[in-house]
Amino acid sequence: MSADGIETVGVVGCGLMGGGIAQVCARAGFTTMVCDLDESALEKGMASLKGRVRGAVERDRLTELEAEALLGRLTATTSLSDLAGCDLVVEAVTETLEAKRAVFTQLDAACGRDTILTSNTSSLSITELAVSTSRPERFIGLHFFNPVPAMALVEVVHTLLSDETVVKTVAAFGERLGKSPVLVRDRTGFVVNRLLVPYLLEAIRALEEGLASAEDIDRAMQSGCGYPMGPFALLDYVGLDTTLYIAGIMYDEFRQPQYAAPPLLRRMVLAGHLGRKSGRGFYRYED
Ligand code: 3HC
Repeated sequence: MSADGIETVGVVGCGLMGGGIAQVCARAGFTTMVCDLDESALEKGMASLKGRVRGAVERDRLTELEAEALLGRLTATTSLSDLAGCDLVVEAVTETLEAKRAVFTQLDAACGRDTILTSNTSSLSITELAVSTSRPERFIGLHFFNPVPAMALVEVVHTLLSDETVVKTVAAFGERLGKSPVLVRDRTGFVVNRLLVPYLLEAIRALEEGLASAEDIDRAMQSGCGYPMGPFALLDYVGLDTTLYIAGIMYDEFRQPQYAAPPLLRRMVLAGHLGRKSGRGFYRYED
């Protein structure tokens, strides 16, 4: 093992987040095994990943040789037991307690005692996931941001049970990925969603109130605050269903009105207007 103890990384889930996480791990030089139990999801995720790597070569961000080496460090599997020899595993499956627990139960049984288990959850309790394994002291939250290859932050979430050395190792791992790790206590929403979710919900309330159009609210926040996207473009990007889900968990935890979903958000999700992924959210998308 290297100085900070991590050489081989497992990533569970090859969707938007898992695929991006696998890409940055392999890019940073880690031997990376990405696992998705669903074979077609794995194929689709790997095809997107390869497309992004090709795109990086075309934009002169990577040389052909670096791209080849990156892809050479990546293996794809549909079997969680193939991750048994990993030093650290990042779970990035569907955002439900049941799905994540099922993965961790299997990983806990398959992996060596020293393997560090991490979850990319944005809203579930790290403590609750940690205590469902036999190694809560080696269980850390590792929350990446979308799009993973482009966003510099990773939140490193520790619990009352975390081993301090493990927290440091995971933060050092985040740095080796080229990210800027921020240490956070296990509280729903961590830092970013704690601040971002009330902001996004307030934008919807302002729209419902007729304060200004979605386009103008977006333009105001982009040109007034220098944000890369306004709140409605970001809501469509993150997904309205995802935002509603996270807001619900935050409301359950804190019982404060700033986390209560506005009626319009609920109605849009019910209507299937989920944002970019469904072709329509606050804006319409052609492809
Ligand atoms: N996948 C991978 N990389 C992507 C990407 C994607 N989907 N979209 C853009 N990028 C990369 C590009 O490849 C490019 O990389 P390069 O500099 O190495 O060439 C870089 O991002 C900039 O891309 P573009 O020039 O094409 O586009 P923009 O300058 O318009 O930037 C953006 C796009 C990075 C998405 C920018 O608009 C942005 O930062 N938006 C805000 C995103 C944000 O706030 N994300 C956090 C969401 S909250 C979250 O994830 C938490 C969760 O719990 C809800």
